[in-house]
Amino acid sequence: MKAVAIAHPNIALCKYWGKQKAAGNYPAVPSLSMTLAGLATRTEIEIVDGDRDELVMGGGPADVKSLARAVELLDRVREASGSKKHVRVRTENDFPTSSGLASSASGFAALALGAARAFGLDWDDARISDLARQSSASAARSMFGGFVELEAPQATPGMFLPAKPVAPADFIDIRMVVCITTDKAKETPSTEGMLRTAEKSPYFTAWLEAAPRIFSECKAALLAKDIAKLGDLVEQSSFAMHACAMAAGVLYANAGTLEALAAVRELRRAGKSAWATMDAGPHVKVLTMARDAEAVAAVMGAQGGVLRVIVAKPGPAPVVEVG
Ligand code: PMV
Repeated sequence: MKAVAIAHPNIALCKYWGKQKAAGNYPAVPSLSMTLAGLATRTEIEIVDGDRDELVMGGGPADVKSLARAVELLDRVREASGSKKHVRVRTENDFPTSSGLASSASGFAALALGAARAFGLDWDDARISDLARQSSASAARSMFGGFVELEAPQATPGMFLPAKPVAPADFIDIRMVVCITTDKAKETPSTEGMLRTAEKSPYFTAWLEAAPRIFSECKAALLAKDIAKLGDLVEQSSFAMHACAMAAGVLYANAGTLEALAAVRELRRAGKSAWATMDAGPHVKVLTMARDAEAVAAVMGAQGGVLRVIVAKPGPAPVVEVG
């Protein structure tokens, strides 16, 4: 049995940062994302006769940590399907993995979908999203296209918590201009950054209070197609998350990041729609209206600290083929 799944990364408009105490990887705050078109992870899963799982990433054998995280997900699928078989997984991104483009989101969404189908589980998208969430909460959101939310209700261990679609990809004509500021892999993985923030940031409680409000207002602005308000809230979410993390010594920005952020402010002063957001890395993603995307990309790409830019539209849900 073999399955091939293709999933797309997503960028959070409202950030998830922090985990609940209950075991099972539940987010401490709700998040809202846009799935990106034109960028994809392709994952092939083949059931084999061997006695262990094999993982090939980008043409080479995976590192020990990545393999362990994949095996954890595969073990859940084996348990649900009653199979003891192992698999050979081959996964590739058609975008640079070090680009900070949430490759774990598309990676775990593709793995969850492909593994569920390869083992014959006829789970719906919500169940697969819940499976992906246990490996990477942002991956739960990559199970759907367009605009997607992941709520953060008080969790008990094992509670079912999938992401949910909020609006389709063609709901609003916006773009995400991804500005790459380094080719180096990120220094602090998101889980480690979140744990350190919760433990050490004097602002963590303030973040936990503010994030649900920013999320509700952001979702309302999206549904009202109020792009200026949406952009303002997208920046609020990202700056609040990073300020909170920075107070714990978790710093993701580099010099190029600051240069890019200043360019975004300058673009706005010049009358363009441009709002910045950042994840657990130094890259800056700029939310803009489709009609400004080309001008925004040209200005951002001309910044000395920006290596290159990728312009992405709202993208589709993942697909899977079983053969
Ligand atoms: O799902 P993880 O563990 O890759 O964490 C994602 C964290 C952020 O990208 C910073 C925010 C988000 O909501 O995607």
